[in-house]
Amino acid sequence: MPNTILVGAQWGDEGKGKIIDVLTGDADIVVRSQGGNNAGHTVIHGGKKYILHLIPSGILRRGKVCVIGNGVVIDPLALVAEIDGLRGLGVSIGRNLMISDCAHLVLPYHRVLDEQRELRKGRAKIGTTKRGIGPAYGDKAARTGLRISDLVQPELFSKKLQAKMRENNSILKALGAKPLDFPQVNEAYLSAGDALRPFVANTVVYLHRALQKGKAILFEGAQGTFLDIDHGTYPYVTSSNTTAGGACTGSGVPPHRMDRVVGVMKAYTTRVGEGALPTEDAQLANMLHEMGREFGATTGRARRCGWFDAVATRYATMINGIDEIAITNLDGLDTVDPIRVCVGYRLDGERLEVPPSDAAQLEHCRPIYREFPGWKTSTQQTKKFAQLPSAAKRYVATIAELTGAKLKIVSVGPTRTETIFV
Ligand code: GDP
Ligand code: IMO
Ligand code: MG
Repeated sequence: MPNTILVGAQWGDEGKGKIIDVLTGDADIVVRSQGGNNAGHTVIHGGKKYILHLIPSGILRRGKVCVIGNGVVIDPLALVAEIDGLRGLGVSIGRNLMISDCAHLVLPYHRVLDEQRELRKGRAKIGTTKRGIGPAYGDKAARTGLRISDLVQPELFSKKLQAKMRENNSILKALGAKPLDFPQVNEAYLSAGDALRPFVANTVVYLHRALQKGKAILFEGAQGTFLDIDHGTYPYVTSSNTTAGGACTGSGVPPHRMDRVVGVMKAYTTRVGEGALPTEDAQLANMLHEMGREFGATTGRARRCGWFDAVATRYATMINGIDEIAITNLDGLDTVDPIRVCVGYRLDGERLEVPPSDAAQLEHCRPIYREFPGWKTSTQQTKKFAQLPSAAKRYVATIAELTGAKLKIVSVGPTRTETIFV
């Protein structure tokens, strides 16, 4: 398998975890290069449900090495809990996990600051996952963050942590929040540092050596294109580059070593948190929620739902250089008739083919829809593209064509076997 970047082409939760698990069969190494435990990637295998937050979704396959790259922000307590949780489910974690010594830390004051900032924004809140992601990346950009390399050097870490906590406790007090207790935090994080030390390495060197040996690397994007700090619906975004470029900067693997980009997209659209969602549709959301679908894997929040937005996915193809498309959750539309697809936006009487950069303008965009007849039959048992109902075939072929990339995978259920290769 060529070196592959997998990205979410919508607003996150596209089913990246499931597709990564499928593609990992042909890869040697799976790398996370951005985001943190705001991500929640679901893999269902062997009758068990695994939700991965920081650890790449390739961890469930034996013989694969999973790398948490330099671009990820790591909450050490959350990572230790995730390792323990997976081990409890029978997943072996040892030499198959590596953590970059350059990855930045999410510390307790980042989480409190995230919460406090959201609270103070009131109705203008972003709707973050409250995992401290924004404040941690903020410290990284301000060059005041602590990294994994600090965490595994106890004396140095305690000294740096104490200084950071002094500063952040005065900010917390000014915000009316309770200051945090240094000895308590220090002890908990040193102990997490001890647990993580065996996994820590210079992952850039590891990945380059692997490339020299001809190993195939799969880059597991977190979040989605429209949550990208630069290209997303700012300010209703996350704090990292969720688009294809993030795989290079967040891992140290250069662009010319990347061979293909796979864009994962749901057969409809979902979003958690605030911000524009032009094709949002309450009826579709009700239907999906009643089926028990579309509840957040990280926060449990009900996801907002809408029709497939080809304006958005076309733009995602442009930014990420998507070569191949994986469409997931086609079965979610099995009972829907008619099915709508957004093919353009209308803003102030004008037709737009690309999303406006301004969040307020995007709020005012009205979708222009094309309607498709539903297939009104279950697709979940389908193994071959030719066996899909003809209305379903026409639907996926058209959304791929509108998106502007090659259709490669159609997913009709959450497990590995419910996958059609086109
Ligand atoms: P991710 O963050 O992109 O990995 O996506 P999430 O795991 O947050 O959300 C995707 C949800 O859809 C999870 O509950 C998956 O188990 C589920 N899923 C993925 N693909 C399919 C599919 O083709 N059909 C069905 N029914 N569920 C799917
Ligand atoms: P995966 O990898 C969906 C959203 C939050 C919020 C915004 C900012 O599972 O697709 P943050 O906590 O990052 O500061 O929140 O981004 N968000 C996600 N939405 N899937 C995710 O990850 C997300 N990670 C963050 O809901 O709107
Ligand atoms: Mg998710």
